Amino acid sequence: MKGGVGKTATVIALAEALAKDDPKDRVLVIDLDAQANASICLAGDSPLTKLIREQRTVDGYLKDYLFKKKDVEIGAYIRANASDVSHNGSQLDISLFAASPTLRLVEVDLIYKLTQNNYSLNKIVSNLSSLIGTQLREAKKQYRFIIVDCAPGISVLTEVIIRLADFVIVPTIPDPLSTYGLQTFCGSIWRKPQSSSNPFRKKPQATLPYVLFTRRQSVKLQNLTVEKLRKQQSPSDPEFKIFHTEIPERVAIANALGMAGKSPSFHRKWGGVVDVMESLAHETKGVMNGASA
Ligand SMILES: Nc1ncnc2c1ncn2[C@@H]1O[C@H](COP(=O)(O)OP(=O)(O)OP(=O)(O)O)[C@@H](O)[C@H]1O
Ligand SMILES: [Mg+2]
Repeated sequence: MKGGVGKTATVIALAEALAKDDPKDRVLVIDLDAQANASICLAGDSPLTKLIREQRTVDGYLKDYLFKKKDVEIGAYIRANASDVSHNGSQLDISLFAASPTLRLVEVDLIYKLTQNNYSLNKIVSNLSSLIGTQLREAKKQYRFIIVDCAPGISVLTEVIIRLADFVIVPTIPDPLSTYGLQTFCGSIWRKPQSSSNPFRKKPQATLPYVLFTRRQSVKLQNLTVEKLRKQQSPSDPEFKIFHTEIPERVAIANALGMAGKSPSFHRKWGGVVDVMESLAHETKGVMNGASA
């Protein structure tokens, strides 16, 4: 829900840390935000401009499939080797299903056109969910990790993807306002009465969301908030779980996000926070392996 909390930074860092950790693990990043920040941070301006020109984007796919009724698969829209970051001399294996700024319009158009055809909003979300679910199941055969960057605020695509994901990470700045939003968000999706016929009430596949404290500074207000949230979660019935790893507020992280096109090594890109990003990847793998065991 919150803007500017480090969602995109988390997606980029996690994608690169996972790809670096085991070169056999192919990683796909899907950008579901019309701001296209993850696409720019990963691929850089000019490759993204080319993808947008060729309509090889999430919005291009949705337009082709839903409006032009083409029988398409997302594989044709994905750019392989999208990252120019390397480790031990090899390029990281990260692919990108990019977004473009028209994604927001496509999402609105989609709802408008289908409601004109007497589709209810629930039906639109159900259809979109089964379409994206089918494509993700296919993509899972090729990629070990599929990481989706969501837009801030309310979006039909976010509603759909949160329910399809095996694992939901909620980057949160630990201050009182962000925390309030966090409880509302987790409660509204995981604690609402469930209904199989209403897609907005469909039980998410992930058992509980995982909160990741981001932009962490050692100031009293943040320390108190973190302490309170860690203590508050009842072991038997938590509202959400919390990563042990915390992402600090560092200029190096902001700088790393602007390095596409400079072909850095993983270590040069993440400089003083390499260990944090490695810890994020290991903890994510640990939880996912535990969850699927
Ligand atoms: N840990 C950090 N330390 C310092 N700067 C950061 C950190 N994380 C993110 N930033 C910076 O803060 C801004 C917002 O980060 P980011 O784009 O990752 O947030 P977001 O939640 O994806 O935002 P949006 O809601 O707009 O998609 C960016 O300018 C980014 O460079
Ligand atoms: Mg973002």
